[in-house]
Amino acid sequence: MEHTVTTLPTARQPGCPFDPPKELIDAREHGPISRYPFPDGHQGWLVTGYDLVRSILADPRFSSRKELMSHHPTIDYGDIEVPPAPPGEFLLMDEPQHSRYRKPLVGKFTVRRMRLLTERVEQITAEHLDAMEKAGPSADLVTAFAKPIPAIVICELLGVPYEDRGSFQGHIDKFLSGEVSDEELIAAYMATQQYLAELVAAKRANPTDDVLSDLTDSDLTNEELRGVALILLAAGLDTTANMLALGTFALLRTPAQLAALRADPTLTDNAVEELMRYLSVAKQFVRVALEDVELGGHTIEAGTTVILSLNTANRDPERFTDPHVLDLRRQDGGHLAFGHGIHQCLGQQLARVEMRAAFSALINRFPTLRLAVPAEEIALRPETADIYGVKSLPVTWDV
Ligand code: HEM
Repeated sequence: MEHTVTTLPTARQPGCPFDPPKELIDAREHGPISRYPFPDGHQGWLVTGYDLVRSILADPRFSSRKELMSHHPTIDYGDIEVPPAPPGEFLLMDEPQHSRYRKPLVGKFTVRRMRLLTERVEQITAEHLDAMEKAGPSADLVTAFAKPIPAIVICELLGVPYEDRGSFQGHIDKFLSGEVSDEELIAAYMATQQYLAELVAAKRANPTDDVLSDLTDSDLTNEELRGVALILLAAGLDTTANMLALGTFALLRTPAQLAALRADPTLTDNAVEELMRYLSVAKQFVRVALEDVELGGHTIEAGTTVILSLNTANRDPERFTDPHVLDLRRQDGGHLAFGHGIHQCLGQQLARVEMRAAFSALINRFPTLRLAVPAEEIALRPETADIYGVKSLPVTWDV
């Protein structure tokens, strides 16, 4: 019997901010794939099981092309025809277009290249902790720590001048929040595009020591470079920021795990992977079948939209022992929180460097760090936002 999920996106259960919504966990218990009728009437699918999510992510018969994404659980496109992704926005392209943009970038985001940034990331982190300490003994961890650190790192990497960062981050915040009106969203998107166009032209005229300037040596046009820069920013800012804030919240709610991490810094790498699995802030992605595909005993017909739930895949009991437990010593790796296949996160090594540096510095600097309000009062981001997390995280510590 086909299981059907009718209510997406669904809210998290009260008191369980880290667990996927109950309807999604229930759906996975019925099997790895469920029917999902989209609000516009399109008969789609929701995939919640680890193996199936992983195999679809690696299957070229499923497309990421933007122009095929007219069915969406939260956006009503009405009769509007969704246009193809603008040049350079390779997250929403298939091969061979996708490789044209990803290839010149790969060498700039390798493990080795990103490890070289560790010292600078530690320095940026220390500066923010100094400021927090000085203004303390309480802070909103989102504004004081989680947001600015990845923002500075990615701006430096791309070569966004320091004086432009405030207004630039303001526009990006708006179009990623999931909570602004359509008009504000369009205005913020246009302002970001305008700024990036100017930035690319400036790098072409006067190259500096950064990724965007390096890319002006490739055969990418200014318009394509603007698209690439937008994807790097959109993909790298909100994700890491939410991992830092929600990850800290999760650690503060599991004091034994936090104590273990403080006592044993060699746990840090594993802790970051486990937090990524447990929280899966990039919670779902959409693909469209390009041909009829037999999967899990069902035929996914050509043109059908499939929602891939990374957060339930990462909590699949057939793949992870005690999946709903945060266990920083967990050995069953292989989470899908950075995706899989051709679109697997390009910035994952950078994100790891940032998370390792930031979590360890934070918990060591403030041994008595705790929530400043009851956990139930922490405001969560709406499920309509692409990236899950907290809106703010009031914390305090002893001086
Ligand atoms: C903890 C933080 C992060 C998480 C959870 C995350 C998650 C993901 C996921 C799940 C995908 C796959 C999307 C898909 O299959 O459609 C992805 C792609 C991507 N990510 Fe990340 N990401 C993070 C940090 C970063 C950072 C710091 C960068 C900075 C450069 C970045 C750049 C990208 C890019 C460019 C893509 C598109 C790759 C492609 O289409 O080939 N990400 N990310």
